[in-house]
Amino acid sequence: MLFIANGEGWPGVPTTVEMLKSGADSLTALVAGISRVEVDARVRSVGYGGWPNMLGEMECDAAVMDGTTREVGSVGAVPNTIPVARLAHEVMKRLPHVMLTGAGARRFATETGFSVDDVLFPDSKRVWRERLLKEMTPEQAECFPDIPLAPLLKTITDPERVRDTTVYLSADPARGIHAATSTSGWAWKYPGRLGDSPIPGAGFYADSRYGAAACTHTGEMTMRCATARTVVLAIKLGYSLGDAIKLAVDELGELTEGFLGGVVIHAVDAKGNHEVVNFRCQSEIRYWLWDGAMPEPELRPAKTI
Ligand code: GLY
Repeated sequence: MLFIANGEGWPGVPTTVEMLKSGADSLTALVAGISRVEVDARVRSVGYGGWPNMLGEMECDAAVMDGTTREVGSVGAVPNTIPVARLAHEVMKRLPHVMLTGAGARRFATETGFSVDDVLFPDSKRVWRERLLKEMTPEQAECFPDIPLAPLLKTITDPERVRDTTVYLSADPARGIHAATSTSGWAWKYPGRLGDSPIPGAGFYADSRYGAAACTHTGEMTMRCATARTVVLAIKLGYSLGDAIKLAVDELGELTEGFLGGVVIHAVDAKGNHEVVNFRCQSEIRYWLWDGAMPEPELRPAKTI
């Protein structure tokens, strides 16, 4: 058994590890852990502790993937709902669809028994308001929100807060390989913006025969390169895990236009290997590892390339 999660996923790591130890279904264990991350306001990039869009509204994204069946459940730009990872799991279990967004996703949440939650953390609201007021002219502030938002987007982009995801991966010879993600997305994003976390192939991908990958940080790059799928397809084509990640990193490095930033790739293969690679993120990146034999999960540094 192998389990990895990004550093910010810490509030749910013990839950997932305990459930995996007791033989729980892997995807259920990943979702249970991520659900704890979503409700913990100390994690400032996911769920309740995350950042709103330009209008001060929370819109959360999440997804799950069963690598054995390649079934996916995904939700994007969901208002007033926690935990969205569990909602994505319900999409996978109950619907013939792969992805629901916005009002439709919220409607499905109500149908499946989710309460309507106030997801906006007061401190996030305070920071959003201060940041926006700094950027707007008095005339814009008076008319807000009935003003064009696009011109504000370039100046309000906050590189410190364009990180924003939690990813969990598990691999087990008997239970298969699985992936789950959740995020509040890019701070102060244009309303309706989806990141890579709900997009199969970009922010996550799993195939129990070969491996799985999931990305954090700049979704605007991994969506253009189908990064998670690239890693898993390269393993299928015979690449080692390290070479598969290098191929995906080379593709990210070929991008010269559009919004460019850092990306972290988390990946496991069906042979029991794992790697977490930091491509151009300035901050120190760490991840959680539990290999089934460890008494406790360990926090490890990512490799920088
Ligand atoms: N990687 C998360 C996002 O771009 O929203």
